[in-house]
Parts: sequence; C-alpha cells; structure tokens
Amino acid sequence: MKFFIDTADTDEIRKAAAIGVLDGVTTNPSLIAKSGRKFKDVIVEICELVDGPVSAEVTAVETEAMLDEAREYASWADNVIIKLPLIPAGLRACNTLSEEGIGTNVTLCFSTNQALLAARAGATYVSPFIGRLDDLGHEGMDLIAEIVTAYENYPNIETEVLVASIRHPRHVTEAALLGADVSTVPPAVIDKMFKHPMTDIGLEKFLADWENVPGADD
Ligand code: G3P
Repeated sequence: MKFFIDTADTDEIRKAAAIGVLDGVTTNPSLIAKSGRKFKDVIVEICELVDGPVSAEVTAVETEAMLDEAREYASWADNVIIKLPLIPAGLRACNTLSEEGIGTNVTLCFSTNQALLAARAGATYVSPFIGRLDDLGHEGMDLIAEIVTAYENYPNIETEVLVASIRHPRHVTEAALLGADVSTVPPAVIDKMFKHPMTDIGLEKFLADWENVPGADD
C-alpha cells in the first residue's frame, strides 16, 4: 500500500519525506487554512519536497470555474493533481481533466455508488472519508471493503482507492488488509505507526548489552 501524508504542514512533510516512506501528499481547504500560508506558496513548496502526487483542492462549485482553478493549479508543478468534490459538477470537471491528462482525486466520498461514479468519470483516485463515517456511528471501514470489492469486479476500473479521514493506526492496517491502494495519514498517526513499546525496550537492551562487548567502542 502507498502512503500519502494528509497535511499542509511542510515541516511534517519534510520529516516524513526524509524517512523515505512518502508516496504523495493530500491537502484540503481546511488544512491549507490551518497552515496560515498562501495556497500557491504551500502547494509549490510541497511539490518540491515530494516526487509523488500532491492534491490541491478546488473551491469552485461550478464545472467551468473548477476547470479554471484546476488548470491554474496544474500549471504550478508537474506533480499537482486536482481534488474535486463528489458532486455532479465535480465529476464533469473530472471527466474533462482526465481527457486532458491531468490527475484527479475525487473527494468527500461517503458511499460505494459515489465511488462507482467517480471511477466512471475517470478519477485517478477516489477518497472515501472513513473517520467521518465512524463519527456518525457507522463503520467507515465497511465502505472501503465495499468499494474495493466493487472495483475488483470491474478490472477495467483504474481508479485507486485512497483511504482518507484516517484517525488512528488501526485504520491503516485495516485499509491494507482490505487491499486499498493508498492511505493518506495525518502526521500524528504516522508517528504512532512507528511506535511499539517492545521496539523501544528491545533497542534499549541491545544498546545496554553492547556496552559489555569487549572492544565494542574501539
Ligand atoms: O483530506 C481529507 C481527509 O483526510 C480529512 O480528514 O480528519 O478532516 O475527517 P478529517
């Protein structure tokens, strides 16, 4: 499974990229607002930090205005892909961008039918929001299972399932077990994915024992 990071915080992106575990970046208007920086400045900097796709989201709600924004964003860097909301205008824009060879990430997906429509519109990625479904008392991961199964029934579908709204490490594990293509993970959850008390205890013991090896520090 590929890992994207879900943030517009360039320090966090730099940190994850340096470890070599990053395949791409997703942003959204809320994350950009949280950065406190200008949209273009943030996206251009992120695109320099990672080679993989960087999602930049449109804020227009009409197709032509979405396309104007999308073409502008796509001109900023080769690895910008366009995030579009899963509404009819967004899928119309998705179809056009797909024909123009511009990558897309269809976002705010909350049902299998929506994911099927996104695939039909030629989306590069579809982003089901599992954490927000969990928040409503649903089982967000059931949606991933359904979409993965439905897509598998149609081998001509090339749209990748990008699991979004991830809240904890178990979400990532379950997404991988279901065969999702990508998880976009917030920085705090990436940190937690590394952590295991037995790793820390084991390392501490190895280093302590190493001190007793004759000539180890020569
Ligand atoms: O980037 C979209 C998605 O990951 C948002 O997550 O935590 O705001 O539901 P969240």
